[in-house]
Amino acid sequence: MRAATAPTDRPAAPPIEVRPSPSLRLGDKAPDFTQDSTQGPIRFYEWMGDSWAVLFSHPADFTPVCTTELGTVARLKPEFDRRKVKVIGLSVDPLFFHEQWAGDIAETQGAELNFPLLADADRKVAQLYDMIHPNAHATETVRSVFIIDPDKTVRLIHTYPASTGRNFDELLRVIDSLQLTDDQKVATPANWKPGEDVVILPSVRNDEADKLFPGGYRELKPYLRITPQPNR
Ligand code: BEZ
Repeated sequence: MRAATAPTDRPAAPPIEVRPSPSLRLGDKAPDFTQDSTQGPIRFYEWMGDSWAVLFSHPADFTPVCTTELGTVARLKPEFDRRKVKVIGLSVDPLFFHEQWAGDIAETQGAELNFPLLADADRKVAQLYDMIHPNAHATETVRSVFIIDPDKTVRLIHTYPASTGRNFDELLRVIDSLQLTDDQKVATPANWKPGEDVVILPSVRNDEADKLFPGGYRELKPYLRITPQPNR
């Protein structure tokens, strides 16, 4: 099958006023929105239900790095599902482009686009989430990622340049850390991977730690206590 190519007769983009958006910060409520997508109109909060969400933006359709990113997320979808996380992409091109591009993704990446891709041609969501950084590009979104918990609180924000594809295994690792540390009085150290030792929160006194961590812990410093990952 011949790949759909970027239409050469792209309709002239309507003039878009890119207004400065208030930055979102960790702990803020994720803004709700309604927008078109490859799976029909999405009302964001309703679509999330009581799941976690990963919302991530792309500079444009028919671009090589974005194509590999969407394919990677499609192949990883079972891993997101297992963690009760819904994934949703965004590009500021129209739905018509997304639908053609989805064919290229399926053809070249070995996976169908199995999650919604927002068609944010009017930049509504991009503005709400401050995904356009005018000093990087006047109208295209940068590679933004938001991890949002079931209470609709923003738990991670990261921003990558257009030229660098993201590491989606790292996003799964952060989700594993957030879900573990929401449940247990621990934090995860540098380069931690699921199953490895964790650190006990400094706010936990040793007498409490003795009860909470029956596997014991090593105290390297009063503030640095290492214990096997709980609940494994
Ligand atoms: C890409 O997705 O390949 C890309 C997009 C914008 C600038 C550079 C690369």
